[in-house]
Amino acid sequence: MIQLDNFACHNIHLKTERLKLRPFKDADFDIAVPFYKDPDLLYAIEECPPDEPITTEYLKKAGKAMRNGGFLFAIVEKVSGRTVGEVCLQWMNLDRAKIEGEKIMRLPIAIWDKTLWGKGYGKEVVRCLMAHAFEKLGIDRFCPVDVPANNERSQALWLSLGLTVSREADDGKMLDFEITRSEYEKIYQKNN
Ligand SMILES: CC(C)(COP(=O)(O)OP(=O)(O)OC[C@H]1O[C@@H](n2cnc3c(N)ncnc32)[C@H](O)[C@@H]1OP(=O)(O)O)[C@@H](O)C(=O)NCCC(=O)NCCS
Repeated sequence: MIQLDNFACHNIHLKTERLKLRPFKDADFDIAVPFYKDPDLLYAIEECPPDEPITTEYLKKAGKAMRNGGFLFAIVEKVSGRTVGEVCLQWMNLDRAKIEGEKIMRLPIAIWDKTLWGKGYGKEVVRCLMAHAFEKLGIDRFCPVDVPANNERSQALWLSLGLTVSREADDGKMLDFEITRSEYEKIYQKNN
């Protein structure tokens, strides 16, 4: 049996052109905390950021919820070796986005360092994990959910990869996106 001594409890390592995705470790929370003090990052993720200070323990609690329902990765920049964000390929846990008989995943993602936003890193990560989800895990539908309606950058990311808006939630404050297996195959596997 493989010994999984990392926080994420999986052993999947993936690579993109400029990034590595590796299992999230306990020490990564300490790296994340200073970035979570930046309101730009907090407001991108949460419509109403928490009042309490963001600590390692706070992030760990959120991290546990993600790792218990999926595959939590640290995003590592190859050129610098720095851990620059987190992403979780997570089984769908929202009733509104579940469909009986379908395997569906969501994908919370945060590149912590805002100086790295808009350089194509998000697209590299999502492209890689979407391929993993459809081609290795055999999902039927990929559905990033709870995207704040004012987070244009995140919406542009999903749209640029061929996803569409599937529904509005929370009185239009949040948007859910999706791409089905057949749509994915049409866009990404047409040359196979
Ligand atoms: C959202 C996030 C993951 C996107 O990753 P990124 O590396 O910044 O985005 P990319 O550079 O890969 O850009 C993806 C697409 O969005 C477009 N885009 C990037 N920034 C944009 C902006 N400010 N406005 C509009 N479009 C934008 C890009 O042009 C690209 O589309 P294209 O390939 O058709 O040109 C990243 O910005 C992030 O982690 N932000 C903070 C946390 C967050 O918002 N998480 C998501 C919560 S739902």
